[in-house]
Amino acid sequence: MKKIALLVTALIAVGILPIVANAAPEDDLKAFRAYFKKRFPDTSFQEFTNGNYAVGIASADKRAQWEDAEEFPPYELPLEKGQKLFETPFANGKTYASCFKNGGIGIRQYYPYYDPNTKSIKTLEGEINECRVKNGEKPLKWKKGDIAAISAYMASTSRGKAIDIKVPDEPEALAAYERGKHHYYAKRGQLNMSCADCHMYNSGSYIRADLLSASLGHPTGFPVYRAKWGSLGTMHRRFGGCNKQVRAKPYKAQSDEYKALEYFLNYMSNGQKVNAPSYRQ
Ligand code: HEC
Repeated sequence: MKKIALLVTALIAVGILPIVANAAPEDDLKAFRAYFKKRFPDTSFQEFTNGNYAVGIASADKRAQWEDAEEFPPYELPLEKGQKLFETPFANGKTYASCFKNGGIGIRQYYPYYDPNTKSIKTLEGEINECRVKNGEKPLKWKKGDIAAISAYMASTSRGKAIDIKVPDEPEALAAYERGKHHYYAKRGQLNMSCADCHMYNSGSYIRADLLSASLGHPTGFPVYRAKWGSLGTMHRRFGGCNKQVRAKPYKAQSDEYKALEYFLNYMSNGQKVNAPSYRQ
C-alpha cells in the first residue's frame, strides 16, 4: 500500500495523474450519507426528506398525524397565492418567468448554485427579489409572506426532481462550500452546540419535547408550513430559529453566511427528491 501511495504521489507531482477535482465535497457527501444510513438502517434515502416524521425516526402516532395533515395541508392557500403572484405581471408587463431558465418551472433542484459571473452563491429567494428589482419593483421582505409563497410555488413545480447541486472547481465556489460546512460543524452560542450536535449526533433523540430530525434531506421540503409559525417560512427563517435555540446571534436572512450554509446542506441532499412545500408542527 505504502509503495502505491508513494507512486501515486510521484505521478501527481510530475503531472501524469491529475488531482481528482473536488475530492473534498464528494468525500464529505459519501461520509455524510453513510453516517445516517448506519444510524437509521430502517430509513430509506428518500424517506429522510420527511424530517422528524420519517419512518424509522418518528413514532407511528406522530407519523400518522403528519400524514393526515399532508392530506389537507394548510399550505394549500399560500401555495395558490404563490402561483397567482408568480403569474401576475409587474407594472412593466413582464413576469417572474422572464427572469428564470425554463420560465422558472421545475428548476428548484438546481438552487442554490454558484454563479461564476458574480462569483457568488445564488438562492431562489435571492433571484426572486433580483427579478423584481430588475423590473422596477420593490424587493420583498425575506423569510415569510409573499417571498415564501412564490418560492414555495416554484419549488412545488420541482416536486419529485432530485436535488442536483454542483460545487465547481473554482476557489470561490469551494470557499462558499467550506464556509457552509464550517457553520454546520462549528460550536456556537451560550449552549456551545453545532448544527451537527443536534441534527447528526443526536438525530432521532429527544431534546425537551422535540424529536431531532436528521440533516440529510433537510432542504427538500422548504419553504415549509409550520403550525408554530402559522405560515410558510424559508430555510433562512429556520436557520435563524436554530441559531437562537443555542442562544447564538442569528445572521441576517440572505447573508453570505446563510447562503453558504444553504449551499452546503443542499449539496449534502444531492439525489433526494424535492417535496416542497411540506407541513411541519
Ligand atoms: C439544540 C439543538 C439544535 C441545534 C443546535 C440546531 N437545531 Fe435545527 N432544529 C432543532 C429542533 C428541536 C428542530 C425541530 C424538530 C426537528 O425537525 O428536528 C429543528 C429543526 C430544524 C430544521 C427543520 C427540519 C424540518 O424537517 O423541517 C432545519 C432545516 C434545521 N433545524 C437546521 C439547523 C441548522 C442548519 C442548525 C445549525 C445552524 C441547527 N438546525 C441547529 C434543534 C436544533
